Amino acid sequence: NVPENVVVAVDGTSGSGKSSTCRAVADRLGMRYLDTGAQYRAITWWMLRNGIDVHDADAVAAHAEAPVLVSGTDPLAPTITVDGDDVSVQIRSDEVNAAVSPVSAVPAVRARLVALQRTLIGDGGIVVEGRDIGSVVWPDAQLKVYLTADPSARAARRALENGGADLSATQESLLARDKIDSGRAVAPLTMADGAIHVDSTELSLEEVVDLVVGLVMERV
Ligand code: DC
Repeated sequence: NVPENVVVAVDGTSGSGKSSTCRAVADRLGMRYLDTGAQYRAITWWMLRNGIDVHDADAVAAHAEAPVLVSGTDPLAPTITVDGDDVSVQIRSDEVNAAVSPVSAVPAVRARLVALQRTLIGDGGIVVEGRDIGSVVWPDAQLKVYLTADPSARAARRALENGGADLSATQESLLARDKIDSGRAVAPLTMADGAIHVDSTELSLEEVVDLVVGLVMERV
């Protein structure tokens, strides 16, 4: 049995299998699940929808507090709403993919979402995925995993998820996001202190889930 206050932080590159892994781990261990990437995507969707230039950091910052965001934390049915509308599907569009990294680099956006994430994590019992969970959002997490995979493996998985999208375009879009996410000034993607690096290139989802569940059990 996993103690109720446990926080598992899973960070890593786009398409490394974070979402599938975290949802399955949370489900197996009876924990909640939080997809922080979905929150950055939702705020980005709102900016696009409202005609804000996503490359104008001042304009994005000025509207960072405007959308009302609600994240559902059921690992079997994660949801995200913006001003009451479920945008789970819309936030996976090419438009949002292309705009989410510049929006995520704006400090006012990060400050708002980090505060929201800390409130949601609360007393724990949650698996949280993102880029800066172990480094910034919850450095005291009992387990920090840094999940990566080779770009070609990530692109293949993402293209499959997106109904057979073009492989090289998918890989290009993943690598473009990695570059901005790792290079930005505030909370860049990095391996947190004490994180365990898991490379999922040669592993099935089942194997990664077993490995992470095993690590949680070891730690608590
Ligand atoms: O995990 P994802 O691909 O859905 O994340 C989308 C974008 O959100 C990603 O390009 C970087 C940003 N992000 C972030 O900056 N910090 C997080 N904790 C999670 C996501």
